[in-house]
Amino acid sequence: MLKEKYGAEIAEILSHYPVKRSALIPLLYLAQQDEGYVSEAAMKEIAQMLRLTPPQVYETATFYTMLNLKRVGKFHLQICKSLMCALVGSDTVIGWVKTKLGIGPGETTADGLFTLSTVECLAACGTAPMMQINEDYYERLTEETFDRILADLKKDGTCSLKTGPFMWPEAPRAQ
Ligand code: FES
Repeated sequence: MLKEKYGAEIAEILSHYPVKRSALIPLLYLAQQDEGYVSEAAMKEIAQMLRLTPPQVYETATFYTMLNLKRVGKFHLQICKSLMCALVGSDTVIGWVKTKLGIGPGETTADGLFTLSTVECLAACGTAPMMQINEDYYERLTEETFDRILADLKKDGTCSLKTGPFMWPEAPRAQ
């Protein structure tokens, strides 16, 4: 149960919002950090906490690609397919994933290391084509850098080519 495990964190999140339901996405993200994905049980618990119906929680959770409704691999490749990235080769990047890892969108490698998702704009259009892996951005992708990223992740679990973690914007404090 999220509340038992993260009571203090949940209270802190709720304190940011005068209207409880506004805490929905941060709570879904907390659930994802806990289990690696947002489970049905977590969605029901969050619905209860925020006095929402489970379908209201589900419709939000399914709208945002940063929320996973099933387990993903250790490294979650999220390749942007929006216009700017598409114009400069996101389909080519997806092709590299297919060739080098043998997976397409929505699939995970047999060793559980990599999952591929295609996502909408990640606000790094000026450095397209790009992808997010877990919390990190990798920009101006070329086949050479892509190969190095995969090799480094397999070897060390990290890669120095990352350009920084994704940051949630700070929620304003309730007055
Ligand atoms: S279009 Fe890909 S980051 Fe914006």
